[in-house]
Amino acid sequence: MRQRQKTEAIGTLAAGIAHDFNNILFPILGYAEMSLDDVPEGSLVHQNLGQIVKATRRARDLVEQILIFSRRDERELKPLLLKPVIKETLKLLRVSLPATVRIASTLGECPPVDADPTHIHQIVMNLCTNAAHAMGNSGEIRVSLEGPESGLWSGVSLAVADSGCGISPGDLEKIFDPYFTTKPPGEGSGMGLAVVRGLVARLGGRIEVDSRPGGGSVFTVRLPLSRQTFAHQEIEAAGAVPRGSERILVIDDDIGIAEMEQQLLERLGYSVTAFTDSRAALSHFEAEAGAYDLVVTDQTMPELSGAELVRQMLAIRPQLPIILCTGFSSEVDGAKASELGVRELVMKPIETVHLGQAVRRALEG
Ligand SMILES: Nc1ncnc2c1ncn2[C@@H]1O[C@H](COP(=O)(O)OP(=O)(O)OP(=O)(O)O)[C@@H](O)[C@H]1O
Ligand SMILES: [Mg+2]
Repeated sequence: MRQRQKTEAIGTLAAGIAHDFNNILFPILGYAEMSLDDVPEGSLVHQNLGQIVKATRRARDLVEQILIFSRRDERELKPLLLKPVIKETLKLLRVSLPATVRIASTLGECPPVDADPTHIHQIVMNLCTNAAHAMGNSGEIRVSLEGPESGLWSGVSLAVADSGCGISPGDLEKIFDPYFTTKPPGEGSGMGLAVVRGLVARLGGRIEVDSRPGGGSVFTVRLPLSRQTFAHQEIEAAGAVPRGSERILVIDDDIGIAEMEQQLLERLGYSVTAFTDSRAALSHFEAEAGAYDLVVTDQTMPELSGAELVRQMLAIRPQLPIILCTGFSSEVDGAKASELGVRELVMKPIETVHLGQAVRRALEG
């Protein structure tokens, strides 16, 4: 009972602060990434900015973790190939774990499962961080991905094995409970495995542990194969940020974000006009509807919301490409966005590369 109240309280708090918090993180991440490009690699400033980017991504991941746990996660489940996502996550882990931790991976080619990349990212991050911790930060983590097995499980199996301290039978029953941790106060929240279990359940899978004290542990996540068709599968490869020269109208009531988006898009070659007042933006657009190739707007704004702005703009120019940016709001999900006629829905804080890719897709789509 107390447990449930505690969980509900976290959920309410999380949903409440998430939007604001993401808005704070977004410009920090954006400006730090931009500045990183401007200073020579290897310089102290470059290193320091790199640390800011890293810490901000961690903060963003933590917000996500809490939101996923409080079931405010409305990400769409789409066919996803796990191998590239796992590879990407391991690259991130490589830079965040001490060099004394080796990461060995055997990733087989597997058919897609229904998931969002964030889910897989969270699962792998949590399991590997635990593994590293259990080994006192030195040793080898083995990550493997196997295709459909004949027999017991007809899905995909993702395993994370370590040669760490192992788990006692008494603790084994409790490790998936929220707040259960053997870390000293202030070091672990005990939410890691609770989140993993929640995610795996959401994806229709199950998780198993094999562990002996002193003999290391193996966590195996089994996920069912995608039930959707392979046809419209899109796998985002994080590569170079695509550039362009089109004219973009940016609207965000937060001046920090509006200016940051403007600067970021200008660096990619676009010519950008930014507004912080959505009604002013609409009157401007009414007068100069032909002057823009794309609109990037925030959703949550006073007086005139992003969704309403989109409606009115599309009434004027039905084919106008629009990108709607949201914090973690439940008002607009993927279905609502496409019903509105929005080309892309992006979740804040987004990174330069994702915004750049969304802009190209919206313009070319
Ligand atoms: N690979 C592992 N080897 C040994 N013990 C583990 C392993 N993974 C988890 N545990 C045990 O399970 C407990 C709960 O793990 P969980 O990830 O939920 O929380 P945490 O790691 O303690 O804190 P947080 O993840 O919030 O930083 C850990 O404190 C640890 O005792
Ligand atoms: Mg953990």
